[in-house]
Formats: sequence, structure tokens, C-alpha cells
Amino acid sequence: MKEGYSPSFLLIYLPKIYYMSHKIAPSILAADFGNLQRDCEMVNNSQADWFHIDVMDGVFVPNISYGMPVIKTINKHAKKPLDVHLMIVDPDRYIEKFQEIGADILTVHYEACTHLHRTLQAIKHTGMKAGVALNPHTSADLLSDVLNDLDLVCIMSVNPGFGGQSFIENTYKKVKQLANLREISGSSFLIEIDGGVSTENARKLLDAGADVLVAGSFVFKSDNPTQTIADLKAV
Ligand code: DX5
Ligand code: ZN
Repeated sequence: MKEGYSPSFLLIYLPKIYYMSHKIAPSILAADFGNLQRDCEMVNNSQADWFHIDVMDGVFVPNISYGMPVIKTINKHAKKPLDVHLMIVDPDRYIEKFQEIGADILTVHYEACTHLHRTLQAIKHTGMKAGVALNPHTSADLLSDVLNDLDLVCIMSVNPGFGGQSFIENTYKKVKQLANLREISGSSFLIEIDGGVSTENARKLLDAGADVLVAGSFVFKSDNPTQTIADLKAV
């Protein structure tokens, strides 16, 4: 221990220092699929923490993204955890399959689950971390009875389905509400923000209580994605 640093100093300040180091999860939806290996290597060699992988079924959201073969390919090249965001109806059908193809965190939509508690238990049973995503109209309060069953809450800051949309300003208020619920309940899930994230809104999101920033277009459409990830990490 450094001279002059009492144990109580470390107890008070170390968690805060740890807490300040937010995670960056580039969204592969905005990658160049003709150069998927190259873009995966870029994420591996950057300051990014996770790969964010969006699965869309054309039913829960109007768009269809990609499925198992593409995720298997990403997993083959990825050296960082796969954060899989399911925008699909009845996600229970595929929980084991996603674990088999390499998902580390599996996030389902609150609006797509009739028996959310059961779904979360099923995800955890496979050894994956369990997350819930909330559409912009879904109140954070609705999670109050499952807060201790969650590893992650993904707050959608756009309507899910497409990359490159404008950030919804109400998100800041919602992040604060959720961070408050987390504190009151003593739970420890991470708060992730997904949609329209950039260095413009990152500071305010982190101040509100966010831990993980997903960024698609802002990273992959920039001139230097590696540097853009470093900029988001340095916020
Ligand atoms: C939207 C997806 C997002 C998307 C974010 O439905 O869940 O992960 O890739 O893309 P940007 O950062 O471009 O808004
Ligand atoms: Zn997503």
C-alpha cells in the first residue's frame, strides 16, 4: 500500500475509480460485412470492451439484420465478449443456441417477453449474463420486481430496428431513474445505452449513471474507428 493511503481511503475511493471506467461496445450492425474479419480485428485492437451484436427478426422490429452463421463468424475472430441484443419475438426459443455460438451476455426485450423472470433464469442457467432492453416508451419502473435478477439493462435511446438514428433526449431522465432504482434496491446491474451515442452525449449519459455505451455509426462511419473508440473511452 502507498504510504499515507489508509485502508478506509482505499475502501471509499477504489470503487469510485473502478466505477468511472465505463465500457464501450461498438455495434457490428454498422460494420462493413464485406470486411467483417478486418472490422473484428479493429475492435480487438482498440480500446473497446465488448462486441455489440444486434439480432433483428423483421417481426419485433421492421428490419432483419443477421443470424447464427454471421455471429459464429464474429465469434471466430472476436477476442472480447459478445454482447448480443435480441430484437426478436419469443426469444426463449433461441437461448441455448446463442450460448452455443458464443454469446456472453444475452439481452432480450421487455416488450417481447411474456414471462420475463423465467426467461432471465433460463439465460443465467446457460452461464450467460442476462440483460433486458427497454424501448423508449417503456418505463424503467416496470423492472422493479426483477432488479436483482439482472446483469444488464439496455436503455434504447432510439426506437430499435435501425442504426444511424437520432438520439432521444428523454434518455437522460430515464438513465437517472434507473440508476436511482439500482441504488435503492442495492442491485448491481450495468446500465447500457444503445442508439445515437456519440462524444456529444456520452459525458451526460455517464453522469446520469450509464456504464456501457453502444455506438454503431459513430464508430464505423468515422474516418478512424480505432481513434473514435478511444475518444469515447476517454470521455
Ligand atoms: C438499434 C440497435 C443499435 C444500433 C446502434 O436497433 O440496437 O445497436 O446498432 O446504432 P447507432 O449507434 O448507429 O445508433
Ligand atoms: Zn443494439
